[in-house]
Amino acid sequence: MNIILLGPPGAGKGTQAAVISARYKLAHISTGDIFRAAVASGSELGARAKACMERGELVPDAVTIAIVRERLTGTENYILDGFPRTTEQAEALDSFAKIDAAVNISVPAEYLIDRAIGRRICKKCGATYHIKYNAPQSEGICDKCGGELYQRADDNAETMSKRLSNYEKSTRPLIEYYRKRGKLIEIDGRKPIGEVSGEILAKLEEVRA
Ligand code: AP5
Repeated sequence: MNIILLGPPGAGKGTQAAVISARYKLAHISTGDIFRAAVASGSELGARAKACMERGELVPDAVTIAIVRERLTGTENYILDGFPRTTEQAEALDSFAKIDAAVNISVPAEYLIDRAIGRRICKKCGATYHIKYNAPQSEGICDKCGGELYQRADDNAETMSKRLSNYEKSTRPLIEYYRKRGKLIEIDGRKPIGEVSGEILAKLEEVRA
């Protein structure tokens, strides 16, 4: 199965991608993670991505499409978290991949800034927490591996509001794009994490059947 996760910043794409990829043994491919790794490595791509991410803007389509195309070469059964994000990316993806379902996690804007600002991520294993909604047992320490938790540089109110406005302009139209192609699964992402996972997995079972 090849799945796309759609939704605004902070909707829970990464959280749910981890659950879905574990259940169906899918490769979890997150363009945000790819760009953050490039920033950490100090590569030329990293320098370019860092400037866009700090401004809350999208990395240019040509760069992002080339990275995903290369990453998907020879890969079967994956979940794409954060790609596509523009119509140009979606059209390019259609030219080199067959997508079975696009899961749209819908969450109203008033929830999203709170979710992003409270997010904490493990430096070692990448597990995601939230200081209120999914807190680790010991503050600042990952339950899974004992790694140190950190806050993403773009998880602040100012950058989030730019990310949200870019989402409205560039990414929201993809809901219609996948609806028209009969691939869209709509999920209410306001519910607690476990309930959202249950609904997504139930819908994906229907796709598999
Ligand atoms: P990316 O890393 O993809 O960020 P994003 O889309 O803005 O999404 P987030 O990672 O912020 O949120 P999420 O939906 O994964 O939520 P999460 O599960 O963590 O991209 C970052 C940047 O990279 C972009 O701004 C852009 O510059 C660039 N980029 C990436 N892809 C690109 C592309 N295709 N094209 C161009 N540029 C690209 O959850 C958030 C928090 O909420 C967590 O703390 C979690 O514990 C909590 N939470 C989750 N679900 C729930 C729930 N149901 N109830 C309560 N809390 C919840």
